Parts: sequence; C-alpha cells; structure tokens
Amino acid sequence: MKGRKKIAAGMLCCMCILGVNGCGQADSDNSQNVYVGVTYYDQSDIFLNELLDCFKKEIQDLESEEKKISVTIQGAGGSQRTQDDQVKELIDGGCNVLCVNLVDRTDPSEIIDLAREKQVPIIFFNREPVAEDMAQWEQLYYVGAKAEESGTMQGEMAAEAIKANPQVDRNKDGKIQYVVLEGEPGHQDTIIRTENAVESLKAEGIELEKLSYGLANWNRAQAENRMSQMISQYQTKIELVLANNDEMALGAMDAYEKLNYTESTLPLFFGIDGTKVGLEAVRDSRLSGTVYNDKEGQAKAMAKLVEALVTGSGMEDMDFENQKYLYLPYAKVTEEQLEID
Ligand code: GAL
Ligand code: CA
Repeated sequence: MKGRKKIAAGMLCCMCILGVNGCGQADSDNSQNVYVGVTYYDQSDIFLNELLDCFKKEIQDLESEEKKISVTIQGAGGSQRTQDDQVKELIDGGCNVLCVNLVDRTDPSEIIDLAREKQVPIIFFNREPVAEDMAQWEQLYYVGAKAEESGTMQGEMAAEAIKANPQVDRNKDGKIQYVVLEGEPGHQDTIIRTENAVESLKAEGIELEKLSYGLANWNRAQAENRMSQMISQYQTKIELVLANNDEMALGAMDAYEKLNYTESTLPLFFGIDGTKVGLEAVRDSRLSGTVYNDKEGQAKAMAKLVEALVTGSGMEDMDFENQKYLYLPYAKVTEEQLEID
C-alpha cells in the first residue's frame, strides 16, 4: 500500500514548461518543439530533487521563440518495473530525449531496447550504468561525478580536522575509532566513497579503528536509526562518523541530539553533497565538512547535451571522456570556505 502511494505521487510529478503540445518530434520548419522525458529512481531523494530543480531552470533557459521545450519528470518509487513502464509511456508520448536515473544501475537493458527501437537518445545521470551496458548503443550518455574523488576529499578533510584538533582522539589511544553510514548497496557512490575516504585518511597518517557500519540508503531517518543502534553499542567510543551523503550525516547527528549528548562527547561528522540543509549544518559548525556534488554543473551539462542531441549541433563542444561520459568535479566545503565565499 505504502509503495503504491509513493508511485502515484511520482506519476503526478509532471511539469510542462509551455504546457500545450510541447510533445512530438522536432518540427521540420524552423521552429522546434522539444520534449524531454525524465525519470529518477525515487522522488524522496533530497539531492536528486535539488539537482532536478536546477535542471528545470536550465531547460527553461534554453527556450526561445523558435524552440519550445517541455519536460515531464517522473519518480519511480524505487521500482525498476515502474521505471521501465514510465520510459515506455514517455517514448509513446513522443519524447525526443530521455534522461534516466536508473533504479537498478545494473538493469538498463529494457530501457535501452525501448529507446533504441524509436531512436531516442538516453542521458543516464547520477547512477552510473556499468561499462558493458553503456556500450550497448552509441546513443547512450552519462552525466555524473567521480565517486573516488568525493571519497578522497572527505578523507582528506577528516584528516585535516583530526590533526588540527587532538581532542578528537578522546580516549588518547592514538587511533581514531570510526563508523561509516553507507548509501544503497551496489551504488557506485557507496562502495567507492567509503573505500577512498578510509584510504586517504590512512595516507594522511591517521591510525584508524573501524567500530561498525550501517546501511542507510541515503536516508536521514534510516541513518538516525542505525546510528542510535551503534551509539547504544559503543556509547562515547565513537570519535568519527563518515557518511556517504549529507542526509545520513544529518540523521547521525539527529540520533546524538535525541540522546542529549553534550558537545565534548560528540564525534566529528562528515558528509557529501552540499545539499541546502547540509550546507546549513556546515555553516552552524555541526557538520565538520561536506564535499560539494555539483548539481548546478551536472544539470547544466545535461541540458547542454539535450540541446546538442536534438539540434544535432554542439556535440563537438562537449567535454566527453570516452565519447559519452561527462564528469563534473567535486569540491571540499568547510565552514571557513563558506565564510570566504
Ligand atoms: C548520490 C548522492 C546521494 C543520493 C544518490 C542517489 O550521488 O550523494 O545523496 O542522491 O546519489 O543516487
Ligand atoms: Ca581514539
């Protein structure tokens, strides 16, 4: 029941810039109607909602007298089956380009077949399909960021904070006792961010002891839950919390807050994304740092690619890796940096 409600909400998330009849193939006279179909894995994902807000604005900016653009955005409620159906509907509705944030990044074949049949190019974003799938057809593209870069930056920021503040090693055993809050299993950003954060802390000479980890699927409430369990097991032993995204770092902080922990017994928290609330928490010095996942840059790259694909010009200006990948850089965010900006 809950699942069904979620899906229904996702279907409603539809918007048409310039409402009427934006759909259909690009016209043969000078004016063009462009219809972009977007589907993403789950409409409750905070980072993706912020990214798609940017994308809507970017697409709006592309409109001109001659070029009318409409966009339909659907959330798939965490179901690949639902997403496959949404893609079918979008294609039947005449969309010229698809932007797909896969539910299951290892299972894009049905979507690729549907799109190839009608020659509708696909821009995958944020959830990267595996290389073999990207090689299935030449009209497949990917826009995102490199997971290892965000992990490394998170580890470097944590190392810097630990070196600057010896109190972090609360029990003075020369090691930092840490826990990790992980995103969805199987997501490129989960495994790689965790690995690289830990590697770069070690490379900076920080001795570590891993106490535990919790899977929390990018979600604040789930992270709060996992963190509460870890706190009841380790009490004040935890000195550092590495979270694969800001929402989960915030969930971990919620858990400590509910238990009325005082500042001197709190660990350091690090996130990734730089969402609106994530940045606020950095500004308030509750979150020691985050890594900015450049949603504006990714949205702009997606919109530019949409335009290039429908007009057939501008592909040569795109900064592709291996002809089909566009990666935007991450950036470290600390309170000091926010003060400078
Ligand atoms: C990550 C992001 C997470 C979540 C996830 C969804 O890049 O850091 O917050 O949005 O993508 O695929
Ligand atoms: Ca310690």
